[in-house]
Amino acid sequence: MLPHVRISVIGCGYLGAVHAACMVGLGHDVVGLDVDAVKVEQLSRGVAPFHEPGLEEVLTEALASGRLTFTTDPSAIAGCDLHFIAVGTPQQAKSYAADMTYVWSAVDTVLQHATVPEEGPAVIVGKSTVPVGTAQAIADRVAGADLDAVVVWNPEFLREGFAVQDTTAPDRIVYGLPEDRERGELGRAALDRVYAPILERGTPRLLVNYPTAELVKVAANSFLATKISFINSMAELCDATGGDVARLADAIGHDERIGRKFLRAGIGFGGGCLPKDIRAFMARAGELGVDQSLTFLREVDSINLRRRDHAVELATEMAGGRLVGVKVAVLGLTFKPDSDDVRDSPALDIAGRLWGRGATVVATDPAGAAPVRAMRPDLHVVDTAAEALDGADIVMLLTEWPEYVALDPARTRSVVRTPRIIDGRNALDPRAWADAGWDYRGMGRTASTW
Ligand code: UDX
Repeated sequence: MLPHVRISVIGCGYLGAVHAACMVGLGHDVVGLDVDAVKVEQLSRGVAPFHEPGLEEVLTEALASGRLTFTTDPSAIAGCDLHFIAVGTPQQAKSYAADMTYVWSAVDTVLQHATVPEEGPAVIVGKSTVPVGTAQAIADRVAGADLDAVVVWNPEFLREGFAVQDTTAPDRIVYGLPEDRERGELGRAALDRVYAPILERGTPRLLVNYPTAELVKVAANSFLATKISFINSMAELCDATGGDVARLADAIGHDERIGRKFLRAGIGFGGGCLPKDIRAFMARAGELGVDQSLTFLREVDSINLRRRDHAVELATEMAGGRLVGVKVAVLGLTFKPDSDDVRDSPALDIAGRLWGRGATVVATDPAGAAPVRAMRPDLHVVDTAAEALDGADIVMLLTEWPEYVALDPARTRSVVRTPRIIDGRNALDPRAWADAGWDYRGMGRTASTW
């Protein structure tokens, strides 16, 4: 029989909602706590408050088992053996640093409402992405409070669009444990019970100290961001020389030490994680007096932001120097496909800037239209690609949704006014579009013979 743990998940946003539902699948009883009554009500009905493939199925099954509840009442976490902290740590409005308000308020909730199980201390497991040093600070606060609890840091690595898969079949699990070996063992054993079905499959589990666990997450995201900015800087070189960055990435990617993944040049990275994580990491390094160690991330960030400028300049150049009155069809607004997330989305930023330059922007997105309409009522967002493309002077593919990648160049040509396309994600076949009469511009890529 599977070990059974009574779990609370504090914070039912992207991370917490997925985590709560998936923990039921592992055989546990879960209560998800959030301050947002609307979100709690939706989740309780099995409705995902955001677009995430597979989540509603997992939610529905977990709710039907009777072992998953969502609530706004913090007293519901009493009686749980283990508490996951899964609240957000967004970028602060006026600095690069992470806003830790929600983490500390989650810790306060646990200290006020958690109880100590019969068989040993309560366990508090941090999953939020936090500045290094936070786990120890939380452990110190807990030690000074009236609750016998062990703090463990257990970073998540989930990607939007693959969140369920990344939670139930992660490629590794990291536990950041306290220095006190006996307490650490208690924390390790508790998390081993939670993740038993995953660990039984041989998933690597790394036992490390607090700072290492906290650094693993930001180091991984910094590496990924660096890889993307590296290939985007190569795209700039390709633009200057006539090279093709996609073929370049294919060629260097065959070297196993480099690998082809995360070498897709384009308009750069966005979303709720990579941009804010590298900035918070730089801010923390500054506080620690080692800002020089991460100066390269400043460059990674600027290369990334330069991609957006480049896309806007390219559109302006293609329009003959002025965008006023030029109809631009923007295909894609989310930061990546299979997501409705427009946080720090390069596509949305570019659409807004084109509009600012006087272009008649008509944008569309299969999942991001609703959030953009709410956020940017000034932007003209239509429901279908056909409406956006109708009579366009320039087409810009900014998020590589499969339905845009599958557009037929000849048929699309027959509906636009002028066949000019900017492939912001290098997702199209340049030759096929050029052969159909389009002026095709990729990111560090042209329609060359080879
Ligand atoms: C990322 C990390 O991948 C994940 O491990 C971490 O837990 C959270 O942050 P996510 O934000 O969901 O996940 O998106 P990801 O798939 O990593 O893409 C991030 C951005 O980089 C997107 O805007 C994407 O379009 C862009 N990207 C990705 C590129 O521009 N080129 C690439 O080669 C890969």
